[in-house]
Amino acid sequence: MNICITGALGHIGSRLIRNLSIPSLNRVYLVDNFLTQRYASLFDLPSGVNYCFQEMDILSKEMESIIRDCNVLIHLAAVTNAEVSFQNKDLVNKVNRKGLENVAQFCAKYNCSLIFPSTTSVYGVQTGLVDENCKDSDLRPQSPYAESKLYGEKLLQSLSQNNNLKFVTFRLGTIFGYSIGMRFHTAVNKFIWQASMGEGITVWKTALNQKRPYCGLNDCINAINYVIDKQVFDCQIYNIVTVNLTVKDILDVIKEYIPDIRIKFVDSPIMNQLSYNVSNKKSLECGITYHDNLKDSIRETINKLRNVNYSIIKQNL
Ligand SMILES: NC(=O)c1ccc[n+]([C@@H]2O[C@H](COP(=O)([O-])OP(=O)(O)OC[C@H]3O[C@@H](n4cnc5c(N)ncnc54)[C@H](O)[C@@H]3O)[C@@H](O)[C@H]2O)c1
Repeated sequence: MNICITGALGHIGSRLIRNLSIPSLNRVYLVDNFLTQRYASLFDLPSGVNYCFQEMDILSKEMESIIRDCNVLIHLAAVTNAEVSFQNKDLVNKVNRKGLENVAQFCAKYNCSLIFPSTTSVYGVQTGLVDENCKDSDLRPQSPYAESKLYGEKLLQSLSQNNNLKFVTFRLGTIFGYSIGMRFHTAVNKFIWQASMGEGITVWKTALNQKRPYCGLNDCINAINYVIDKQVFDCQIYNIVTVNLTVKDILDVIKEYIPDIRIKFVDSPIMNQLSYNVSNKKSLECGITYHDNLKDSIRETINKLRNVNYSIIKQNL
């Protein structure tokens, strides 16, 4: 089997390309345009895998020759900072909408199955427990980034009906966990970074006690490997969520290692979301399993940054 991973150097991709567990894997195309400059993600890749790195934009026509040679495309490339997406709507729409259109049409044309990572942020302003069956009218994404992901979900549904595209969509919770290409602009990772640097932890004014869905990086990688291994390309949407947590839950764990954290309450354009839990029942029923643990994962990331600032006392690492 040949596969292609776009956005291969990013937070998820840089771990995934080191942890592929796919029987009869032949060639692995890695595509990234260095938008986020994660050059280090290419260091020390494991031997024994037939990687083929291409510095390429997903909007490029040249994606066609790669996808024609592949059985599966894992489409991780995107502009991913939800908060900043209010200021760079054009780029978000170009990469996340037009870029997906480009690769998805080639996937349909060459019978290449597609894994599309959407986000649990498409649920937007909801309360209580939400799942994949909620009505379309209840999906109210609160940022241009989340809107672009909902657009992507609908695009794939229509390509499957009209052009026989085979795909699976993951609505991923916010990812926590270390990778060599990790980014630090989402909750958990950002809080760890700020605490490790001795900075005040910036928490949205409304968010401290609101529940949100999170996904451990290993659980995300395992889910990707699983759907390829079991060929779960059933044109369905699955929530991929390890745990639902409040910001306070996360900060309590960070405090176990960095006791003197300071909280700075700030405003955010996506602060109008409410407290909600996202169900992972459908993914469990499909055979996806969850093993990540927030505490172990936070400890691992803090440990990676342990010598960055000598005045920060870290306990129990
Ligand atoms: N990390 C999360 O918390 C999270 C949560 C929900 C969904 N997702 C989705 O999962 C996917 C991967 O997320 P991530 O955290 O690894 O993102 P990331 O920002 O760390 O990585 C994205 C990668 O895509 C590359 N890229 C951007 N534009 C490109 C283009 N035009 N052509 C080629 N490459 C391009 C970047 O250089 C980067 O290496 C994204 O689609 C993201 O929206 C992530």
